[in-house]
This record gives sequence, C-alpha cells and structure tokens, in this order.
Amino acid sequence: MPILILGGRGNLGSQLKKFFSNDYKTVAWDRDDVDVLDFDLLREKILALKPLLIINAVAFNAVDSCENKDGFTKALKLNAELPAVLADIALTISAVLIHYSSDYVFNGTDNKQFFLEHETPNPINKYGESKFAGELELKKRAARGLNYYLIRTSKLFGPAGSSETSKPSFFEVMLGLAYKGGELTVVKEELSCFTYTPDLAQATKRLWELKVPFGEFHLVNEGPCTWYEAVTEFFALQKLEVKIRAIRSEDLLRAARRPKFSVLKNTKVKKLRGLNQALAEYVNLLNLK
Ligand SMILES: NC(=O)c1ccc[n+]([C@@H]2O[C@H](COP(=O)([O-])OP(=O)(O)OC[C@H]3O[C@@H](n4cnc5c(N)ncnc54)[C@H](OP(=O)(O)O)[C@@H]3O)[C@@H](O)[C@H]2O)c1
Repeated sequence: MPILILGGRGNLGSQLKKFFSNDYKTVAWDRDDVDVLDFDLLREKILALKPLLIINAVAFNAVDSCENKDGFTKALKLNAELPAVLADIALTISAVLIHYSSDYVFNGTDNKQFFLEHETPNPINKYGESKFAGELELKKRAARGLNYYLIRTSKLFGPAGSSETSKPSFFEVMLGLAYKGGELTVVKEELSCFTYTPDLAQATKRLWELKVPFGEFHLVNEGPCTWYEAVTEFFALQKLEVKIRAIRSEDLLRAARRPKFSVLKNTKVKKLRGLNQALAEYVNLLNLK
C-alpha cells in the first residue's frame, strides 16, 4: 500500500516526496492530478489508491489575503474543510493522516513567548483562525479513532517547490531585494522559529517510522529569532554586505496582524538541528544553483 502526498509540488510537499520516495512506494498528487477541493473526486481517487498514510501538504498560505472575505472563504476550504474530508477518508480506510498547522494559531506576549504542544490556540488573524479550524476537525475525529499526526511548524524555507503558487522563501525574497540595491527594512520583532523544509520532511518521516503515539507535535529548527536576526545571519553566511534597517511590526503595512511571539517548543520528539546549521546548508545550496 502506498503513501500519498497531497501538494507534492509545493515547498514542503516536494521535500516530502523526495525523502519518502527514497524508501517507500510514494504517490504525490498536485493540482494537475486532482483539484483537492473537488471532494467527491478526491474521495473516489483516494479510496481507489488505498494508501496506508496520507500526508496533506496542501494549504492556503497567503496570510494577508485571508483578511478579505474571498481569501478567508478559500482559506477555510483548504485549511479546514479539506483536512476534515481527509480525516473522514482516513477513518474509512484505516489510514494514518499527517497534517500541518502553523505557529500563527498562537499569540504570545512578553510574558508568554513559548507554546507547548498541548496548549490551546488563540489566533489573532484569519489565517490562524483557518488553521485552528483545521486542527479542530482532526481532533473531533480523533475521538472516533482517527490516527493522526498534527504537526505545527513555522516560517518554512528551503529549496523552492515547483508549483506556480509556492511562496518564495523569506530569504529568497530578501536576496532578490538585496541584489536590486538600497536599504532593506526588516521587522525586528515577531519572535518564532524558522524551519528548513528538508529537515521537516525527514522529521515527519521519522515520526511515522518510529510509530510515535499519535497527537500534536511541534517541528521547527531550534533557536528562535526575529526576521531581522535571521536575515542578518543569512547575509553574513552569504558574505554579502547589505544595509538593513530594523523596524517594528507596526511600521510594516500588512493586512493581517502577526503574533509578537509564537515560538513552538518541541517537548515530545527529537529536536531538529539549530537554525544556524540549517541556514548554512541552505546558503550552500543557493550558491550551487
Ligand atoms: N510556508 C510557511 O512558512 C508555513 C508556515 C507554517 C505552516 N505552514 C504549513 O505547512 C504546510 C505546507 O506549506 P507550504 O508552504 O509547503 O505550501 P505551498 O508551497 O504553498 O504548497 C501548497 C501546495 O498545495 C497545492 N494546492 C493548493 N490548492 C490546491 C488545490 N485546490 N488542488 C490541488 N492542489 C492544491 C499547491 O499546488 P498549486 O501550486 O498547483 O496550486 C501547492 O503544491 C501547510 O499546511 C502550511 O499551512 C507553512
């Protein structure tokens, strides 16, 4: 029985495909194979395939777009209704379901910067609301015997996915701006963890292979930092001198509010390596391109 990856051409999905297909019969679908919002067709195709594991790497990730009505409707469909449908299918065929959520389901303060796996979300933007709604769909079905890994992660970066809508990573965006010249303005707040997609894909595989008891997990590279700290480290590794002006969250015009603190603490499984090591590998990779 194969492993099914949905969103196989996305940023995370392409890394999942790479690492799972090394050892297992893996089928990866993207929009060309099935529009996952055609729930009847999706159900029919998955029931025919009978995977033993379904990994859902599909999402609506345009955080600011979620603040308008159309965007939020799309976000609820992809981030909440889809995991509900997948959970029902997984229950029907006794498959394990792996689904990803985000640090943006939390909103910390100066006195509460870190979040553990069991803590109750309190999102402050519509994207966070849609991801939290997806989490609840899984939990509802857990009571009916769903076998699931709900993995919260944050600020993905890594080799770009091949799909048109895959977001370029923050670092790629910054590099592009740096090459254009001039001063960059970067937020020196919003403390959280960056996550290298190859590390996340391998940690996901480990979770499943080790048959870790089902539930919620936080998988991020260790070493929380702000956007400013991360990009400063990135340019240092690139040996690029770039003028960066640190600004406050409020100074950047964005439709959605971001949590000031949303550090995910991994207290349940082997921690991922530190951000500095992952970033060094990523920089080497970019320089080989
Ligand atoms: N990116 C981050 O910084 C971040 C942070 C925290 C959590 N996460 C979570 O991590 C997971 C992976 O995110 P990601 O950044 O890797 O996502 P991504 O690169 O945006 O990939 C999403 C994938 O979903 C596919 N997709 C979207 N709508 C579809 C549809 N209707 N039918 C079929 N396929 C569809 C896209 O294909 P097309 O290109 O063809 O549309 C794309 O391959 C998500 O659950 C996300 O919420 C991400």
